Order: sequence, then C-alpha cells, then structure tokens
Amino acid sequence: MNILITGGAGFIGSHLVEKFLKEKHKVIVVDNFDSFYSTDVKISNVLESINKVELKEEISKLNNDEKLNFLSENTKTNNYRLYVEDICNLEKLKEIFKNEKIEFVINLAALAGVRPSLLRPFDYERVNIKGFLNILELCKEFKIKKLIQASSSSVYGNAKADIFTEDIRVDFPISPYAATKKSCEEFGSVYSHIYDIDIIQLRFFTVYGERQRPDLAIHKFIKKIIADEEITLYGDGNTSRDYTYIKDIINGIYKSFKYLNTHQNIYEIINLGSSREIKLIDMIKIIEDKLNKKAKIRFENKQAGDVDKTFACVDKAKKLLGYEVNTKFEDGIENFIRWYKRSF
Ligand SMILES: NC(=O)c1ccc[n+]([C@@H]2O[C@H](COP(=O)([O-])OP(=O)(O)OC[C@H]3O[C@@H](n4cnc5c(N)ncnc54)[C@H](O)[C@@H]3O)[C@@H](O)[C@H]2O)c1
Repeated sequence: MNILITGGAGFIGSHLVEKFLKEKHKVIVVDNFDSFYSTDVKISNVLESINKVELKEEISKLNNDEKLNFLSENTKTNNYRLYVEDICNLEKLKEIFKNEKIEFVINLAALAGVRPSLLRPFDYERVNIKGFLNILELCKEFKIKKLIQASSSSVYGNAKADIFTEDIRVDFPISPYAATKKSCEEFGSVYSHIYDIDIIQLRFFTVYGERQRPDLAIHKFIKKIIADEEITLYGDGNTSRDYTYIKDIINGIYKSFKYLNTHQNIYEIINLGSSREIKLIDMIKIIEDKLNKKAKIRFENKQAGDVDKTFACVDKAKKLLGYEVNTKFEDGIENFIRWYKRSF
C-alpha cells in the first residue's frame, strides 16, 4: 500500500516509517523539519529509519538547505520518498497526493510541546488544526478512506477520573496544544461522518524510547544527569504520567492500520498507553538507579499547562485492536540510555 506518513522525520514518525518499510509498504514522508528541535537530529532519525546511516558524514559537511535537498534526493527508492514540505501548504500537498497515489494517511506532523504552545498559540492552531484540515480535505478530494490521526492524552486536561477511559468528558483542556488536539478529534468526526472516511484518533500517553524528542523530560533528565548538570523539577514531584515505550506505540499504530483495512464505517478514539502511573519523583529514581548516579534536583513551581496526572485505560485498544503493553518502564529506560550513550 502507498502510505503517507506526515511528521516522518520526527520521533514517533521515524519509528513508524521503519515499521512500514519492514512490512514492505511504500512510505511517502512529508515533513518540513520544523525548527522546534535540531534539523540534524531529524536527519539522523530519517537515516536510521531507512537504514542509510552511512550518509550522515557526507551530509554533515553541507549547510542546512543543502542538507535537506541532499537528503530527499539521495534517499529515494521504489519504497521510500521524502518531501520536505509543510502540511499547511495545501497546493504542494495536493501535488504529492496526486503524484504518489496515496491510499492510507497517518498524520503525525504537529507542533508537539505543551509549554511552548502557551507562547505560540497561533502557530499551534495553524499547524495542528489547519494542517490537519488540509489533510482531511485532500482525503475527501482524492477519495482516501483510511486515516490515522495522532491525538494526545493531554485532551483529558485535569480530569477528575481515577483512570482515563475514552468516554469521559474532555471538554476542559488546559493548554493550547491540548485544545488543538481536541479540535482535531472533532474535525475528524465531521469528515468521517459526512465523507465516509474511516478514522482512528490515537491518544498517545507520554511516549519515550530511542530517538525521543530532546524537549521531553526523560531525554532532558538523562542528558543532564550524565553531564553532571542540575535538573529542574516543576512541582513537588507528585505529578504523574503514564509513560509508553515507543515500540508499544508503533505496534498500536500498526494494529490500528490493520483494523482500519479490515473494517468499514469506523470513527474511533483509542488510548495508547501503558496503564501504569509513575510519579515524577519515582521516574527520576528509576533513572538514577539505571545510571547508577544521583541527580542534582532544583525544585520550581508547577508550570502552567502541565496536567497533574495521566493514566490510560487501554481496555478498548486491547479489545478492538489486540494492543499489548510489552515493555516495562524500567526496561524501556535502559534501552533509551543505551541508545543515548551510543548516539551522543
Ligand atoms: N511524543 C509524545 O509523547 C506524544 C504524546 C501525544 C501525542 N503526540 C503526537 O504525536 C505526533 C508525533 O510526535 P513526536 O513526539 O514524534 O514529535 P516530533 O516533533 O518528533 O515529530 C513531529 C514531526 O512533525 C514535523 N512537523 C511539524 N510541523 C510540520 C508542518 N507544518 N509540516 C510538516 N511537518 C511538520 C516536525 O518536523 C517533526 O519531524 C504529534 O502529532 C504529537 O502531537 C506525541
């Protein structure tokens, strides 16, 4: 199948590209290498995802524009094509849909950080909502009937529930980022209903593992503890997250792909998490234990936009998709540390 993966140079996207190539699909990536984090990290993600790390050295000698031209020109194969394009550019996207005969879309492209969304709400609205609307419009125009969209646990806001099931109210997001993801769930519902597009919206719960975004806590903490630097902990350490290992997320996305290909009239919102709540302070203890090194911690006030906890019920994912949580947090952290030490 010809599968469009937007955001395919990012953390989750690059792992997904790898998975679909392994499964012998044709993968078309659209990613604009947004400056949220380093272009070099994303180039490295791309090269690892298509098993062409030998190009790294040659690329490192070029300037940024040359790097991306070189990358898209030298990675073309019958099964892989990289377009350095913005999902907000409807005309360019349309050309890609036309030329590549897209059959399935997985939209991961987004501005992803919670805290920066408070500083750049208009950018988040433009990329996350209008960008997604472009994708939906093109699915309509090109009669593409299958779509997966990356939603987020952040839509739950500070929900009062003990555990987050997909049917609890999510009308009270507490960051612009969360509001954009909630809005995408609503636009998805509209297009699925009116234009018969089968859609699964996956609410990812704090994803971690090899190639994790450098702005996320686990990556930042491990980097700083190794470098003997102080880490900043916002709040008293009692906020908690449901951390999900990247391979479990990729399997969940792949199972959603299979499900959509074998079912019709689908609009589903599904949690992908680990269903294990870990307090921030305990997460740091696990990292300290795995690094065999104490963290120097500075406590700061809780940040606006940060939710108190996330905790996924994954019964729906298990029942509908056959989703499994295979990776214990402690093991996933070990894998991340091994990758980090190898890569930096
Ligand atoms: N990582 C998590 O814990 C997590 C949790 C919940 C939801 N999500 C969602 O999953 C998706 C992937 O997240 P990630 O952690 O891999 O983030 P990421 O930043 O590593 O990946 C996103 C990719 O999208 C690209 N992008 C950004 N704006 C674009 C645009 N206008 N046009 C084309 N490409 C653009 C970026 O360059 C990047 O490569 C996002 O939609 C994010 O909101 C992630």
